[in-house]
Amino acid sequence: MDDDPNVAVLVDTMDATARWPATLRLRTWERERLRLVEGERLLDVGCGLGEAALALAHDLGETGEVVGLDTSAEMIRRARANADAARCKLHFRVADACALDEPSGSFDAVRSERTLQWIADPLAAVNEMARVLRPGGRASLVDTDWSTLTLDVGDEEITAHVRKAMRVEQNRPSNIGSRLHELARTAGLTPLATTAQTHTWTRWNPDESPAPDGCFSMESLADNLVDAGELTSDERIDFVKTIRMAALRNESRMSLTMHAVLATT
Ligand SMILES: C[S@@+](CC[C@H](N)C(=O)[O-])C[C@H]1O[C@@H](n2cnc3c(N)ncnc32)[C@H](O)[C@@H]1O
Repeated sequence: MDDDPNVAVLVDTMDATARWPATLRLRTWERERLRLVEGERLLDVGCGLGEAALALAHDLGETGEVVGLDTSAEMIRRARANADAARCKLHFRVADACALDEPSGSFDAVRSERTLQWIADPLAAVNEMARVLRPGGRASLVDTDWSTLTLDVGDEEITAHVRKAMRVEQNRPSNIGSRLHELARTAGLTPLATTAQTHTWTRWNPDESPAPDGCFSMESLADNLVDAGELTSDERIDFVKTIRMAALRNESRMSLTMHAVLATT
């Protein structure tokens, strides 16, 4: 992420996703089940801008502690800048989810939100989360299943292309959201609860922003479809144009489902 020249766009996307009602509902669901109490230690793996960890920090009182880890130095810099108001101890540092430099059994709770979909070996990351949890500790995994992306622009062919291409994972576990339960079990955790929330985009003005709020651009979606062999380069232009025109007529609808699992050791 730090090498990406569009880091500001990525940050805006993360900010927008954090404001989706579906994301807020999942975070409320998580908070109610993590049941953090004064003095506990919480680890956020792939903490990004840190706002979810900071919200949970309220439950830890002055004696609790939050550790937020991310491979991106830029994310860690921004998370630290956001951390001023927290009452408990806070540490944001650069680290890889698959090789945590944290002692075994040292956390009461661990969370990871929309990070596993970027990790080539998500089981290695969840194994690490399970390792650093104390006996009886709680783990919360939240992630997207991009195969659930629907795109309705009044053109059945476009909808079918998108559905087919998104079903296949390319280079990363983009559909990990629907496998979180199995992943937790494979890592030796016991799932206690699962849920899912769907975000629906009902409005997007392509003249005002290049992508629907919190989503990738339709140009990059078209590139993915070309890579997946669903579109030819010539069809790509019409694909983007059709979506754009539908959005301008306010006739474009999209949705995407995110899943969550709460597990214990
Ligand atoms: C989509 S963002 C989600 C951030 C945050 N959890 C949220 O929900 O807003 C994914 C984050 O995972 C981080 N990340 C990707 N691979 C990672 C890894 N192997 N270890 C730790 N963090 C990683 C990225 O740098 C990025 O900040």
